[in-house]
Amino acid sequence: MARTRAFDENTERYDAWFERHAALYESEVAAVRGLLPAEGAGLEVGVGTGRFAEPFGIVHGVEPSAPMREAARARGIDAVDGVAERLPYPDASFDFVLMVTTICFVDDVAAALAEAFRVIRPGGCIVIGFVDRESPLGRHYLAHKDESPFYKDADFFSTEEVSRHLEEAGFTDLVFRQTVFTAPGGAEEVEEPEEGHGRGSFVVVRAMKP
Ligand SMILES: C[S@@+](CC[C@H](N)C(=O)[O-])C[C@H]1O[C@@H](n2cnc3c(N)ncnc32)[C@H](O)[C@@H]1O
Repeated sequence: MARTRAFDENTERYDAWFERHAALYESEVAAVRGLLPAEGAGLEVGVGTGRFAEPFGIVHGVEPSAPMREAARARGIDAVDGVAERLPYPDASFDFVLMVTTICFVDDVAAALAEAFRVIRPGGCIVIGFVDRESPLGRHYLAHKDESPFYKDADFFSTEEVSRHLEEAGFTDLVFRQTVFTAPGGAEEVEEPEEGHGRGSFVVVRAMKP
């Protein structure tokens, strides 16, 4: 059973976060942009309200929450019902798959990455953006998990864990970007992404399907 209840019930609140935290959002978009292919057919898995698919011109999205899907559709995304663990597309349909802050909500990470691997064509890639559990923001979310309708149900991962899952699914050549260097609750400003991981709370990893 997909973990969608908080998103079903709080769609507008979820979507409004990106306006209340415009600088963080812009920093995250910049970090993803640094690793996402500029061209090719892309799919966002767990597309939510389309806040990442839209600026990257990704038109295909999978999303199990009906109200989130409707919001993504209003942004011009062909958001279809489905879950990461069982993608409704044939093998090798996409040049790349994007997942942003969705890996912490899927029920079965190994199945989700195996499915992404299946729908990506050889030579394509997966790009995953997530809050690193070992970062200041990751630790803050963990400590205050029960106060957030969204993060109450999340299973946070470290960068090492995400990397291991990617390699176990068959992906290779991992490359990292990081951003959000300010402490949680501190002044928010647009930040330049940096290479690597270990300092930024928001990490993006790109990995290739050989
Ligand atoms: C934190 S939101 C991220 C949405 C969007 N990617 C963004 O960054 O704004 C997590 C999303 O994952 C969706 N989700 C939950 N379980 C899922 C699953 N098993 N497969 C795909 N998406 C799932 C939720 O409905 C929610 O829209």
